Amino acid sequence: MAKALDGVRILDFTHVQSGPTCTQLLAWFGADVIKVERAGSGDVTREQLRDVPDADSLYFTMLNHNKRSVTIDTKNPEGKKVLETLIKTCDVLVENFAPGALDRMGFTWARIQELNPQMIVASVKGFGPGPYEDCKVYENVAQCAGGAASTTGFDDGPPVVTGAQIGDSGTGLHLALGIVTALFQRTKTNRGQKVLAAMQDGVLNLCRVKLRDQQRLERTGVMKEYPQYPNGTFGEAVPRAGNASGGGQPGWILKCKGWEADPNAYIYFITQAPVWAKICNVIGKEEWATDPDYATPAARLPRLKDIFAEIERWTMTKTKFEAMDILNKYDIPCGPILSMKEIAEDESLRKTGTIVEVDHPVRGKYLTVGNPIKLSDSPTDVTRSPLLGEHTDEVMAELGYSAEQIAALRTAGAI
Ligand code: COA
Repeated sequence: MAKALDGVRILDFTHVQSGPTCTQLLAWFGADVIKVERAGSGDVTREQLRDVPDADSLYFTMLNHNKRSVTIDTKNPEGKKVLETLIKTCDVLVENFAPGALDRMGFTWARIQELNPQMIVASVKGFGPGPYEDCKVYENVAQCAGGAASTTGFDDGPPVVTGAQIGDSGTGLHLALGIVTALFQRTKTNRGQKVLAAMQDGVLNLCRVKLRDQQRLERTGVMKEYPQYPNGTFGEAVPRAGNASGGGQPGWILKCKGWEADPNAYIYFITQAPVWAKICNVIGKEEWATDPDYATPAARLPRLKDIFAEIERWTMTKTKFEAMDILNKYDIPCGPILSMKEIAEDESLRKTGTIVEVDHPVRGKYLTVGNPIKLSDSPTDVTRSPLLGEHTDEVMAELGYSAEQIAALRTAGAI
């Protein structure tokens, strides 16, 4: 079946996590993604956190599906010429080198424009223009600089980074949207453009609600849905809110049966206002449905700690899955805390292609996360990541190089 991005060619100069997540998505939507790597070593993640000797790591394989790999020495003059040919024939160049690296290679925006005025040049950088624009950045730096760490964790503890890779994979998503938008605009202007997704900006975009709260705090000095209310104190900046849901519907993580031995025997429980009477019935506190101290959301706000303690007395008598079944019957929003083991074994995620088993010639079978975005007219088939330089000859031939020329470039160390 045809794919949404059929015919789009991507020169993929990405490495580590942020850039590769972006180009992997584009490949899943049908783009021909040609990953350019350094001969001999390739993307540094190929050998990071290896679990099978001499096999590309899961770090690499899980971020580089459906791509082709060519090895080109971009510092070799002949290698640069090959890159120029690639630039002329591709629609998008995606890179996440440290600031200035592409310019140092000789591929400035002006030079790329000269070679291909229609080319879209898409970059991930740690920071946008400003005091930190020259800094190298990894995931957790972005989480800290983008406002996620200062607002995550508990009030009496230090800032905490999240397991979700919002700095890397989050920015990769932002960049992918920028690229397809630029491709769309190009259909009208016939021109390329630069696309920049800074990791700090991407994280801040995902922390939008916390900037909202900063302004609410400055105006009113208090935020009633935060656990600091009514007993704690608010400072000048948005505090860490523990497991509070942060919206108009208070929520918290509660222990379930087996919590003493199982670190994930917990459920997220939301006391959504429209189902309050049902919650009272389920936990055996029918009187709370009409008691003026509990009957309205405003009355409940100063009592949330005690309310959740009471609900927890009930959840502790059920496993998280039993609680989920019972609560869902009454439309009470809740969610089990699933471990990665439980997610890996989840049959429904396998059926939808969100968890996929892939076979690799060196490492054998492994699990990966498939395309989380499902298009009805452009289904995703997840294919294994390429071996280092696996497609060098194939791509060189497509670019018009003869077997003799390819051999000569190889002897010269250019490819
Ligand atoms: N052949 C020859 N040289 C190559 C090459 C190739 N095929 N591909 C890359 N290189 C060179 C680059 O030209 C650069 O050389 P230079 O520094 O002499 O100009 C060099 O390899 C290293 O690139 P760099 O990006 O600086 O790698 P690093 O390992 O030092 O830094 C990061 C890694 C992630 C910190 C950095 O790339 C960065 O800040 N990227 C932007 C933010 C980002 O994406 N971070 C998230 C990572 S998950």
